[in-house]
Amino acid sequence: MNMLLEADHVKKTYRLGRVDVPVLRGASITVGEGEWVAIVGSSGSGKSTLLHLLGGLDRADADSGPVRFGGEELNRFGARRENRYRNRDVGFVFQFYHLLPELTVLENAMLPALVGLSRLRWISERSALRKRAAELLETCGLSHRLGHRPAELSGGERQRVAIARALINRPRVLLADEPTGNLDIHTGGGILDLLAERHAAGLTMVMVTHDAAVAARAQRQVRIVDGRVQ
Ligand SMILES: Nc1ncnc2c1ncn2[C@@H]1O[C@H](COP(=O)(O)OP(=O)(O)O)[C@@H](O)[C@H]1O
Ligand SMILES: [Mg+2]
Repeated sequence: MNMLLEADHVKKTYRLGRVDVPVLRGASITVGEGEWVAIVGSSGSGKSTLLHLLGGLDRADADSGPVRFGGEELNRFGARRENRYRNRDVGFVFQFYHLLPELTVLENAMLPALVGLSRLRWISERSALRKRAAELLETCGLSHRLGHRPAELSGGERQRVAIARALINRPRVLLADEPTGNLDIHTGGGILDLLAERHAAGLTMVMVTHDAAVAARAQRQVRIVDGRVQ
């Protein structure tokens, strides 16, 4: 299996006033192309911190080991490549969805595809993009909701929109932070079924959860203890 994403002895320390709080103390994880890995650990163990570092959303300590994507070190990316990494190569799903309330379901799902698009390209690609977003939302079970706003949706439906949004740019890897953490068991199960479908279709996924039953859906689990991956 080809290695796609890797954290190699990463360190992350938060500074609270004058106190250094080391959270990751040399945590390593490798994710192969097509794998579904769950990161587990108790609350506060650093799961979200590790996921943010993998996604280029946060910076590791100066003496940290690297995060690599396709063998390339993220911290050597220039600003443009870094933006492209966050926008194109990875897709993010969060516990609380983070949808934009003023936008419709269709517009929310299209949003990452509009980032960095010139006005000219937006005009020429708009209808194809709308069509693709609508198809994606349909596979996420939302074809009847395209014109609705997030406030009109259930939690499970909101997370389905967030998943469609995360997939709109055809990312190489999906990073999901407690994607079912705000949902009841039944609704969360539906979200996991949807993720499992995408995985079966070839998507690489890294999912953070503190829930053993959720983690069991992944192919492989790694646990963070004392700032390291066991
Ligand atoms: N921005 C921050 N500033 C200071 N401390 C933080 C910050 N983010 C997280 N922490 C602390 O780092 C530790 C790990 O947080 P987190 O990665 O969110 O854990 P988990 O996702 O496993 O619950 C916690 O003790 C948390 O309070
Ligand atoms: Mg967390």
